[in-house]
Amino acid sequence: MIQFSQEKLDKANEIMTRYPEGKQKGALIPLLHLAQETFGGWLDVPVMDYVASLLQINPIEVYEVATFYTMFNMKPVGKYVLEVCHTGPCMLRGSDQIIDHIKNKLEIKEGETTADGLFTLKPAECLGACGYAPMLQLGKFYKENLTIEKVDQLIEELKAAAKN
Ligand code: FES
Repeated sequence: MIQFSQEKLDKANEIMTRYPEGKQKGALIPLLHLAQETFGGWLDVPVMDYVASLLQINPIEVYEVATFYTMFNMKPVGKYVLEVCHTGPCMLRGSDQIIDHIKNKLEIKEGETTADGLFTLKPAECLGACGYAPMLQLGKFYKENLTIEKVDQLIEELKAAAKN
């Protein structure tokens, strides 16, 4: 059964108290983030149903939000999710080549995860760092002014980190 630990439940309750009585639905996005990081990096239907039960809203209201935002994963992902921006400014600065390079190097298509479960490639819409294009998001970090060499270095660093 899907359930937060007591610690995570306390955190979820604390988040919900930030919103006025009757407006707890406002806590949906932070709760989805908490659920995603807690339950394996993606939002399975039972996880979304659990979030709906915490907020006392209909599951469909959770599905609508979770499926709208690309930051929420609707299927299992790798340990490292490479979200490469491919909107205009990043595209003009070579994001297509960056994406193609990652696809070739990791032998995956967009949206896929490597066989070893380490990397998922996820094209993303503008991540608000256009002045540093091309860029990608890796968890809480932005990797900016990307080049093929920087991508290679990043992948090698992540592979090494995964071994430790
Ligand atoms: S277009 Fe890529 S960060 Fe804005």
